[in-house]
Amino acid sequence: MTLHPIELIRKKRNGGKLTRDEMESLIRGYLHGEMTDYQMSAFLMAVYFQKMDFEEITALTDVMLRSGEIVDLSSIPGVKVDKHSTGGVGDKVSLILAPMVAACGVPVPMISGRSLGHTGGTLDKLESIPGFRTNLSLNEYKAAIEEVGVVMIGQTAEIAPADKKLYALRDVTGTVESIPLIAGSIMSKKLAEGIDALVLDVKTGHGAFMQSEEKAIELAQTLIAVGRQFGKRTIGFLTDMNQPLGCAVGNWLEVVECIHCLHGEDVPDLMEVTYALGGAMVMLGGKARTIEEGITLCRRAVHTGQAWEKFIQLVERQGGDTSFLETSGKYPRNKFIIEVKSSSVGDIDNIDALEVGYISLMLGAGRTKVDDVIDPKAGIVFSKKVGDSVNVGDTIATLHTDRTDMLEPATHRLQRAISIATEPSVLPPLIHAVVDEEGIHPWHQ
Ligand code: URA
Repeated sequence: MTLHPIELIRKKRNGGKLTRDEMESLIRGYLHGEMTDYQMSAFLMAVYFQKMDFEEITALTDVMLRSGEIVDLSSIPGVKVDKHSTGGVGDKVSLILAPMVAACGVPVPMISGRSLGHTGGTLDKLESIPGFRTNLSLNEYKAAIEEVGVVMIGQTAEIAPADKKLYALRDVTGTVESIPLIAGSIMSKKLAEGIDALVLDVKTGHGAFMQSEEKAIELAQTLIAVGRQFGKRTIGFLTDMNQPLGCAVGNWLEVVECIHCLHGEDVPDLMEVTYALGGAMVMLGGKARTIEEGITLCRRAVHTGQAWEKFIQLVERQGGDTSFLETSGKYPRNKFIIEVKSSSVGDIDNIDALEVGYISLMLGAGRTKVDDVIDPKAGIVFSKKVGDSVNVGDTIATLHTDRTDMLEPATHRLQRAISIATEPSVLPPLIHAVVDEEGIHPWHQ
């Protein structure tokens, strides 16, 4: 390491701007063990408070991207498009979206993450399918995308290793919620996986990392500008994360909900977001002229059963036992399946997504430490959502867990997380806006 880390930490702490060489020196130094975790933690906290300008963000992204391999998928025909969500509760969109878009003829190479904090992770959901392998080698990854048209794996040691190491540190140092750090993290991984274009689902609301709409827009615009800098067309959707998306929260429970949706069942909020993102991916993939036309193709892929067939092919290709998908009742059940009932009459006007995320952790559906073992069966299934009317004694949700000690506290906490009003509740818009290189546009469907 040529430049001393302490000088660079001080420079950022005092609001200075780092050059590309300085950024490279820091990130490479950290990756090669010349900078300690405590020094990097101090640097990350300095970035959290002092931020970075756009030049620094692109330099950070580029250095992180080049810390590993950049996959070349140019020999595979078609415009390769991926989607990334900034993280939410009940966000199982990728499991329906990836096979659906692939069924429309757009190759989808997807590298996803694990559950983080109160939010779920696509990899944990996929791994709840017995036998499903998310740890394919890069050669297996390329072969799967070539043969099936869709692949869903976790970050390998070769893809943006600097992000992998930095992410783990950010998670335990209170430095996740920083726009420059999120942008560098997401875009370095996405640019390394060999995509041509990207669709972003930037969550906003109480259950999102960026809770205010203003911050979510800033994040979306930053991600889109970084995408453009690296020659990748990027479109962002700002979507609501005040209540959980869909009805299920918890890994296998969410897979079951996806099976129903892939068979054409309508879970309105989940499918509205899935179709909007899918329409944009199909458009970016060159199979439709507009997002709306892309949505029509996506709906057709679901209703003709092609999206389901593609999902089965994907699961088979990655070693999963599809008999559990065909007969979901074959899956083991939790020892305790408890109904949470309404104690008043009215309309549900809030289900606090952040709280629901934490309650599902208590039930065993997520991790509080990196090495925690997840119970894939555990979680919550809502039978009512915001806007639904309830009477005394109606079931609002069902808790699934093996943890007897958590039953009472989880039930009480969930009752407090749900509010029921006597006035009819106003449903907040689900998709707040679409953001592209030209600006922020209202979303009408
Ligand atoms: N998702 C990522 O991959 N990185 C972040 O920093 C936040 C969400």
